[in-house]
Amino acid sequence: PGGKLNRGTTVLTVYRSLKGRELTDLEVARASVLGWAIEFLQAFFLVADDVMDESVSRRGQPCWYQLKHVGLIAINDSFLLESFVFTILKTHFRNDSFYPELVELMLDITQKTEVGQLYDLTSQPYKQPIQLERFTEERYRKIVQYKTAYYSFYLPVAMGMRLSRITNESSYELAESICIKMGEYFQIQDDYLDCFGEPDVIGKVGTDIQDAKCSWLVVQALKEANASQRKIIEQNY
Ligand code: IPE
Ligand code: MN
Ligand code: MN
Repeated sequence: PGGKLNRGTTVLTVYRSLKGRELTDLEVARASVLGWAIEFLQAFFLVADDVMDESVSRRGQPCWYQLKHVGLIAINDSFLLESFVFTILKTHFRNDSFYPELVELMLDITQKTEVGQLYDLTSQPYKQPIQLERFTEERYRKIVQYKTAYYSFYLPVAMGMRLSRITNESSYELAESICIKMGEYFQIQDDYLDCFGEPDVIGKVGTDIQDAKCSWLVVQALKEANASQRKIIEQNY
């Protein structure tokens, strides 16, 4: 509850646009099932992400793991949320010719996102003095492409394309190259809001500075900073 449903509704938008007409009730239902599968995947990522980022709130409520009766049981809950993604696909698409492609796509994007989370979490040596020289734009790009762009932008578009029975691989590659750019821009906004967004509006309290994240803000600040400003960042980030 409280999510924007951007990813889920994108499957419907893409499917409708590829059909070039209004969808039938059954078509809406099937695209919605895929949309919800992505929303479950996102719930899995977020429950785990909030544990790893030691966050306090999400979607205007305490993070799931912050609840007294949940704690680290949240880790198993995140695994369950992930498993439901595949239950949803199996329940509704197992008899479709493109079922193997849907499952493969979900597995591939899940793996890419987890690799992205690893890049994000290891951009600095764990609980060691900060190394500002690691905050490069090149590293930033790689982190956000993997942790955000693939599952948030490419996945819903590719799902809509699979549902439309598009098989031409070059179409998927083209969609990927566009979605990666959109995802990068989206995560830059997320990084900006982590610091400057109003918690009441964005539904969460930012932790990027405390967590020493390779955020767009620190990458840009280091490009502009003189030696003494760089020192201040080093002492406080
Ligand atoms: C989350 O990235 C990426 C995934 C959930 C895979 P962030 O950690 O930057 O996102 P928020 O700011 O907590 O939502
Ligand atoms: Mn986070
Ligand atoms: Mn994170």
